[in-house]
Amino acid sequence: MAWLVFVFLSLIPHLSAVEGLAVAKPGCRTKCGDVDVPFPFGIEPGCFLEGFYLNCSQNATDSTYKLFAGNVEVLKILLPTSQARMKNAISWQCYNDTTRSITDNIWSFRLSSTRYRISSLHNKFVSIGCDTLAYNNMVDYQNHQYRTGCVSVCYSQESLTNGTCSGIGCCETPIPPAGINYYKVSFDRNFNSSFVSDFSRCSYAAVMEADNFIFNTSYVTTTNFWYTYNGEVPILVDWSIGNETCEVAQRNTSNYACASPNSVCNDLGDGLGYICNCSKGYEGNPYLKDGCQDIDECEDKSTCSGICVNTPGSFNCTCPQGTHGDPNSAAGCNKIERSSPWVKFVVGISVGLMVVVILSCLVYFVHEKRKIAAIKENCFKQYGGQLLYQEMKSKQGFTFTIFKEEELKEATNNYDAKNILGEGGNGTVYKGTLKNNKDVAIKRCKTIDEKQKKEFGKEILILSQINHKNIVRILGCCLEVEIPILVYEFISKGNLFDLIHSCRAPCIPLSIRLRIAQETAEALAYLHSWASPPIVHRDVKSSNILLDENFVAKVSDFGASVLAPMDEDQFMTLVQGTRGYLDPEYMQTGLLTVKSDVYSFGVVLLELLTRKKAFYLDKSDDQRSLSSIFLSAMKENKLEEILDDQIMDVESVNLINWVAELARECLNMEAEKRPEMREVAETLDKLRKNMKHPWVQDNPEEIESLLGEPFFFQYGVGNDFIP
Ligand SMILES: *[C@@H]1O[C@H](CO)[C@@H](O)[C@H](O)[C@H]1NC(C)=O
Ligand SMILES: *[C@@H]1O[C@H](CO)[C@@H](O)[C@H](O)[C@H]1NC(C)=O
Ligand SMILES: *[C@@H]1O[C@H](CO)[C@@H](O)[C@H](O)[C@H]1NC(C)=O
Ligand SMILES: *[C@@H]1O[C@H](CO)[C@@H](O)[C@H](O)[C@H]1NC(C)=O
Ligand SMILES: *[C@@H]1O[C@H](CO)[C@@H](O)[C@H](O)[C@H]1NC(C)=O
Ligand SMILES: *[C@@H]1O[C@H](CO)[C@@H](O)[C@H](O)[C@H]1NC(C)=O
Ligand SMILES: *[C@@H]1O[C@H](CO)[C@@H](O)[C@H](O)[C@H]1NC(C)=O
Ligand SMILES: *[C@@H]1O[C@H](CO)[C@@H](O)[C@H](O)[C@H]1NC(C)=O
Ligand SMILES: *[C@@H]1O[C@H](CO)[C@@H](O)[C@H](O)[C@H]1NC(C)=O
Ligand SMILES: *[C@@H]1O[C@H](CO)[C@@H](O)[C@H](O)[C@H]1NC(C)=O
Repeated sequence: MAWLVFVFLSLIPHLSAVEGLAVAKPGCRTKCGDVDVPFPFGIEPGCFLEGFYLNCSQNATDSTYKLFAGNVEVLKILLPTSQARMKNAISWQCYNDTTRSITDNIWSFRLSSTRYRISSLHNKFVSIGCDTLAYNNMVDYQNHQYRTGCVSVCYSQESLTNGTCSGIGCCETPIPPAGINYYKVSFDRNFNSSFVSDFSRCSYAAVMEADNFIFNTSYVTTTNFWYTYNGEVPILVDWSIGNETCEVAQRNTSNYACASPNSVCNDLGDGLGYICNCSKGYEGNPYLKDGCQDIDECEDKSTCSGICVNTPGSFNCTCPQGTHGDPNSAAGCNKIERSSPWVKFVVGISVGLMVVVILSCLVYFVHEKRKIAAIKENCFKQYGGQLLYQEMKSKQGFTFTIFKEEELKEATNNYDAKNILGEGGNGTVYKGTLKNNKDVAIKRCKTIDEKQKKEFGKEILILSQINHKNIVRILGCCLEVEIPILVYEFISKGNLFDLIHSCRAPCIPLSIRLRIAQETAEALAYLHSWASPPIVHRDVKSSNILLDENFVAKVSDFGASVLAPMDEDQFMTLVQGTRGYLDPEYMQTGLLTVKSDVYSFGVVLLELLTRKKAFYLDKSDDQRSLSSIFLSAMKENKLEEILDDQIMDVESVNLINWVAELARECLNMEAEKRPEMREVAETLDKLRKNMKHPWVQDNPEEIESLLGEPFFFQYGVGNDFIP
């Protein structure tokens, strides 16, 4: 049935578009010359609304017709926007060089009735000239007066720019939106182009349609402006019906201008009356009874890509049966696909497969997550995390923290290489900043000994309770990882190795070197005596002695004892890492005692005295290790040759010899014969006190009594070194 309706509808005769847009009242002339004259305008009696008479007069000479509203020529009437384009003379003023006089031609523009007003939106007051001050004197429909104007000046032809009307050779001002229906130009006589008359004699001014004007530099230098427009520029004029509002006008239907039933009335307000417009979906002349005609939207094939049925004021666009989609869009209607069983099968299989894949991914991820959690848990248990937790709960004021893996990652910016403080044989130390802005040193070891894994929690517990001013505090650890990560307090001034081997003269003085040595000895002595069995540092070396801002020594990395790998392969790497410091007896027997630390400390003492490195790879065998260089120098009585020049002076020679002797003690090949760390610390303490009382140096007996250590003298050093 649908197609029958369609056919029937399309058979209804339409008024043609031209007829539908019939502009004039039936039986009236619709044109004057080339210009359409739509109702409410008319050129014959009875053909126009009150106030809309236009005079269509014929030129006797060339018998062309022209349309006039009063004395103003009308070029076009724009019905839907209620506007008209009219002609409007250009006013001008020129300067005559020879007579030094001014000639001008001033026009006034007066719209015949209150129906018309100069459109403020579409026109502007334009003035052209190089020495011009033009005024625009205006009157509105209520007889109020206005005056605006603009100046345009230029000193040379070169300053002019095509297309730019901004005060150089051309200026423009807007028209006030007050309903102006009269204007007259006036030129200021003092701006008369007398000083630019060699290239610009004339000034021009007019109100004109803005869209119609592009400044051209030739307008200033020639009479082109006047000739381009033949003396008259177009001006756009608004018009409206009556002086009442729509509401008032509608009360007396015989007077109401919007005659078409399919029209709407638009108020202009303020006594300006109203204008009519065709309703949506209609077009034509709203001022005529049959003026507004339905628009056949279906004629434009692009509006609807389905079945289009025109309805009054609108249209009905639907997709044909068996199709679907949005018929108003470019995509249009699409056939509804009847999928074959084969297609259904394939689609079914793919969807099924996808579901399976997604599910397995989910299962996998959940499993992985659990696995990781399990690993973390496992590591935590393995390293005795439980023990640590219990201890932390039971002891108040125990400031050990068990860190989460993420916390440390964040603190070190995911172990950024920029944060590396040092790298050694068994691990890397990073600088980290915790959430509370506290700086810490974070040590990640490379490997861990199987045997030590079980003991880790216990050992870390012991280490965490060590509290000595010359030992770097361990603040916490992270157990969730395969190899535990240790967190230490951050020591700002770096390590002793860097301090003595990369300093430029003057280096640290002897007094501070001795203090550092003593503090280190104190720390080691404390470690050796703190627990039973004693804690052996295992890796005493200058790079493990850190210095705080006051150059107070802080022994670090004693935790390495916990983490140091013990199996054969890795043993080698450890030996390499600390070459030069390693106890020769330990290397032979593999037996590690507190005396191994004493040996290593002896090497540190040598470094302090000589500012030479503990080990030189590039030297011959007997010159490689500082200890052997030192021992042979002692034997040959050539100690002075290897000592650091910076600390050698007459006053300290004695003291240095005592320290050298102490070093030799520590470096004894037989571990048994080396002094205890406690003894070393005490000796250094005494030597330092001695240094503070230099008068003692002159008196060997005094020193002996001060030191009071028999082992010093059983080698008969004493007096040999005193000059
Ligand atoms: C129309 O204009 C012509 C010439 O300008 C004039 O002679 C005539 O009187 C005008 N007619 C009316 C009705 O104003
Ligand atoms: C009539 O036409 C001639 C030639 O186009 C023109 O010179 C003259 O000014 C016109 N007259 C009027 C009244 O427009
Ligand atoms: C200036 O005035 C003189 C005398 O009236 C006239 O001959 C001459 O053509 C004028 N010059 C210009 C450029 O108009
Ligand atoms: C502006 O255009 C005119 C004509 O096209 C030309 O003679 C003149 O030199 C141009 N002026 C500038 C400043 O470009
Ligand atoms: C032209 O303007 C100058 C000032 O710019 C003035 O002195 C002169 O009198 C004016 N000439 C005329 C004829 O008004
Ligand atoms: C300037 O005006 C002249 C004469 O009217 C015209 O030939 C030329 O194309 C115009 N130039 C520009 C840039 O508008
Ligand atoms: C409206 O116009 C009529 C004549 O067209 C006039 O008598 C009346 O005073 C005007 N009213 C207003 C408010 O301007
Ligand atoms: C309606 O307007 C007509 C024509 O102007 C007039 O004769 C008539 O009196 C008016 N009717 C009313 C009710 O104002
Ligand atoms: C009149 O209607 C047309 C088409 O709907 C629209 O473009 C125009 O802006 C309307 N005019 C006014 C004054 O509302
Ligand atoms: C458009 O046409 C369909 C089917 O012909 C009808 O159901 C619908 O009511 C119509 N819509 C309008 C706005 O006319």
